[in-house]
Amino acid sequence: MSRKINRRQFVATTAVAGAAARIFGQGPTVIRRGPAKPVVISSANGNKFKNGGDVTCVQKAFTLMTQGGDVLDALIAGVNIVELDPLDDSVGYGGLPNAEGIVQLDSSCMHGPKKRAGAVAALEGVRTPSLVARAVMENTDHHLLVGRGAQDFARSMGFKIEDDLNTEHSRQLWLEWKRRTDPSHYLDPKTRAEAGYRVALEMVAEGKIDREHLYGTINCDGVNARGEICGVTTTSGLSWKIPGRVGDSPILGAGLYVDGDVGAAGSTGRGEANLYNLSSFMIVEHMRRGMHPKDAALDLLRRVKTNTIEKRLLNSKGNPNFGLNFYALNAAGEYAGVSMYESSFAVCTENGPQTLPTEPLLPGKATD
Ligand code: GLY
Repeated sequence: MSRKINRRQFVATTAVAGAAARIFGQGPTVIRRGPAKPVVISSANGNKFKNGGDVTCVQKAFTLMTQGGDVLDALIAGVNIVELDPLDDSVGYGGLPNAEGIVQLDSSCMHGPKKRAGAVAALEGVRTPSLVARAVMENTDHHLLVGRGAQDFARSMGFKIEDDLNTEHSRQLWLEWKRRTDPSHYLDPKTRAEAGYRVALEMVAEGKIDREHLYGTINCDGVNARGEICGVTTTSGLSWKIPGRVGDSPILGAGLYVDGDVGAAGSTGRGEANLYNLSSFMIVEHMRRGMHPKDAALDLLRRVKTNTIEKRLLNSKGNPNFGLNFYALNAAGEYAGVSMYESSFAVCTENGPQTLPTEPLLPGKATD
């Protein structure tokens, strides 16, 4: 039985529902799933690498999604291009290895309509951790498998396990880092950790590695015309990290968060700063309350800045000395890319793929 209500009744009803939701501790959901302008967004590498083919990640994901494919399957097919491309040394095969020269990969994925998620961390030997994250989502009761367990799971799911995911490029960069930081192999651990980060920043300043690739990562999020939202994040993590270090990418709410009724958010950049603030979850919660993706994401960058107080993490202006980017879209297809400092992000709509400048929170550079 359908019952028409007038505007006054509608306002009164939603106000009561909103008050009730607040009493029970849930903010009212402002944005609901429905017709949307289809869009795929990602970090800038999503419109750069093609792995020898014709299309980039965002192009492929947008095409598959708008041809009626499942949104998450489309996004993962997109990021697979970047994971498999040896030229992107921040993701998958050829991602910069950890301090022992071993490539350890992290990934997460979330399916908005199905309200399911999966992730892997510190996974060795599989070029496409995003596919293993999806296998965790589809085949287990769990959200996150790590290390040897994640690899055993991948093997049992039929994934090829390789001895070494380094390329000649990633191995040479690791050797250079090792030569500079640990010439005698007997540095005490504290000095070694400090030296490691300092040398990594030096190698960025010398243009040996891309600043954006120090923490690596691709995050890719999409919404189709039915308003179905999904997201995926995949990375080789911090270059030359302590073995076993896991960043924000595989942690739901940090490197990725999707609420199928509200929107998606994900990140690239310094995972530790993001983890401390669980930014992707908060960005989605802000969008739930009606904030535009750009305002929601900028608010979290402000929070990260406020919570960054350790001297070693501040530049001469007292601002964070690291990069951090957020990518956000809502159920209506509005989207944004924001960053601590000037950066770029990728987007694909019916008008084709583009690389656009992000909205920076701060002027200047992380290293000022
Ligand atoms: N954001 C990627 C990482 O910190 O591992």
